[in-house]
Order: sequence, then C-alpha cells, then structure tokens
Amino acid sequence: MNRFGERFTITTFGESHGKAIGCVLDGVPAGLAIDEAYIQSELDRRRPGQNEFATARKEADKVEILSGIFEGFTTGTPIMMVIYNTDQKSGDYSNVKDIFRPGHADFTYFHKYGIRDYRGGGRSSARETAARVAGGAVAKLMLAQLGISFQSGISAIHGIEAQNLDFNYPPQSPIYALDPSVEEAQKGAILEAKNAHDSVGGVATVKISGLPIGLGEGLYYKLDAVLAEAMMGINAVKAVEIGEGIHSSELLASQNNDPIAPEGFKSNHAGGILGGMSNGDDVLLRVHFKPTPSIFIEQESINTASESVHVSLKGRHDPCVAVRGSVVAESMAALVVADMLLLNMGRTMHGVTNYYQ
Ligand SMILES: Cc1cc2nc3c(=O)[nH]c(=O)nc-3n(C[C@H](O)[C@H](O)[C@H](O)COP(=O)(O)O)c2cc1C
Repeated sequence: MNRFGERFTITTFGESHGKAIGCVLDGVPAGLAIDEAYIQSELDRRRPGQNEFATARKEADKVEILSGIFEGFTTGTPIMMVIYNTDQKSGDYSNVKDIFRPGHADFTYFHKYGIRDYRGGGRSSARETAARVAGGAVAKLMLAQLGISFQSGISAIHGIEAQNLDFNYPPQSPIYALDPSVEEAQKGAILEAKNAHDSVGGVATVKISGLPIGLGEGLYYKLDAVLAEAMMGINAVKAVEIGEGIHSSELLASQNNDPIAPEGFKSNHAGGILGGMSNGDDVLLRVHFKPTPSIFIEQESINTASESVHVSLKGRHDPCVAVRGSVVAESMAALVVADMLLLNMGRTMHGVTNYYQ
C-alpha cells in the first residue's frame, strides 16, 4: 500500500538511508506545463537543515524528473521523480540496531515484517514525505490553472495558539508561523525543548481556496474523509480537524450552522465541506503533530530479545516535526483535491457532454 489516490495517483518509494527516494505519479492529464523550478521550490520549503528549528541533516533535495514530460509538458504517461539521498549518517543508528525507539515505528515494523532497516528509520522515516511534496507540487500546478490554491503554516506549538491567522506570513518565518504575535513564544518553546534534549508537538493549518462546489464523492470517498485519511497518513499526525472541528461538539446548532445568503455562506464553521462535498468556501484543516519521538533524554525500552534497556539516542532530529510537516500536509491536500477533481468530471451528463462534444 504505497499508492494513494484513485485517478490522480502517487506511489512513493525509497528509504531514509537508501540510495534515493521518489514517486511515480499516474493519471496526470497530458498537456500540463511543468515548471521544474516550482517543484524544486516546494521541496526547498520542506528541506531539512535550513535553521535551528529543523533537523541538522543537510540534504539538497534536488528533484530529477525521469519520465512523463516532453518539451516541458506532461504526456499523460507516468511521471517519475527521484531525489537522491546524500547526507546519510547511518553510524548514528548503530546503537538502536536491536532496540526499539519509544514513540517510533521500530517496534511495529520489526514485529510485522521480521526485518527492519534501522538506518534513520528506513521507510518509516518522514524522509519519504519529500516525495509527496514533489507529487503535490505537480498537483498544485494542475489546480492553479483552475484557480485553486493552497497555503499553510503553524497555528500552535506546544499549546501556544495563534490568535489570528495570516496565511501570507509563513514564508517570512523560520517556523512558518501564521501569527507574528505569538511567533517568538512558539520559537522559544521549540528551542527550550531542544536545549533540554526533548521535543514538542504542534498544529499546522492548511487552507484550500477556490474549490468549485461539489468536489467529494458520496458516500465512501467524501472530501473530508479522504482529506483526513491523507493527513493521518503523514508521520506523527495524531488528529485532524475540519472547520470548527472538535469544538463543534461543544456548540449549539444555532452557533455552528453557517447562515446562507444569496452571495454565499455568512460564516465558515463547516470548514468548506458539507455532506462530504466542497461547498465553495475555503477548506480549513487543522493537523495535529505529536512531539518528535527521537529525543536525547534517556528512555526505557526493550531490545529485539525483549530485554529491558535504557536508550540514549543519537542522530539528527527535528525538535518539532509540525514545522516541516505543514508543507507535507499542504502537499497531501493538493493530491486529494487533484484526485477529487478528476473523479468529479464524469458525475453529471453536463460534465460528460462538455468533454465529448
Ligand atoms: C516532516 C517530518 C519530520 C520528521 N522528523 C523526525 C525526526 O527527525 N526524528 C523522529 O524520530 N521522527 C521524525 N518524524 C516523525 C516520525 O517519522 C514518526 O513519528 C514515526 O514514523 C512514527 O510514526 P507515528 O508517529 O505516525 O506513529 C518526522 C515527521 C515529519 C512529518
């Protein structure tokens, strides 16, 4: 199960300390202009080693397109993109070769498969998410032609919540903060945990704008359900909220319903989705990331022989995965919307005749 999507699909491959990671996109319509510099710029947003708020692993994350493009346009054939790993320090992981890191995937991968690439977490590492960002960039190029756009940033770190969301601010912030008024406090929380050899969790918010009404399939491929699946499939994501989210269960309907006027909805508690379909308003997703599991504080665990051990981890790790994770969440949202858009085309006779006439 390394593939995601029904019509616009992404299959990813590779491990953290293997030769390369990458993806194959299938179902991308022919004739889409591919701006390679844009794809690279998206990877640069997720790239590690850029500041003290991210892992020190230095990867250029240069993407190479191997197929599916001719003279700058998609040909309708599979698009393969590869990103070579260049800064693996597998020696950092020799002390966890036979030990399960608390909070990481080592325990379950070992017991499921009986074999585990322990170097940097192998396939369970979020290094794989660079491939999703490359795929998401192609989806965004397609969706931009229809006026659909994506923005994201950090709304909360370790419980320090943004008061106002400014989606134009994150590019100026090393932690992609959405609210400059709490940015310093959020940065402080990350550095305090890092200096204590610990890590913190956070919340990324993704905004999708310009969706037509009706994207999303009833009943088992609803837009909210698939977005939630896409977000929960990102490493370290533990909860997803849409619109009012968990708060909606505390409200009265008279507070939660969005009044409808001829010019549109008067509020957006629904987060842009009703009945599993886009309602034309912005879709707002809050994606909750847990604290990075690999920390340098001594922890209790067991080894592969089920003996108790105390483990002090080495290696280079993000002190807060939500920061770079926000870019991954945005990319997954783009992959979902691209898929939904292609699925939706055949849902009415108007859509069908529009295409064949
Ligand atoms: C962008 C990103 C970077 C991550 N970096 C690290 C890291 O440096 N060290 C680590 O232990 N976990 C990191 N993680 C989280 C682990 O990959 C994840 O917690 C692990 O695979 C276990 O899966 P689970 O938390 O979903 O249960 C990162 C996650 C994301 C999204």
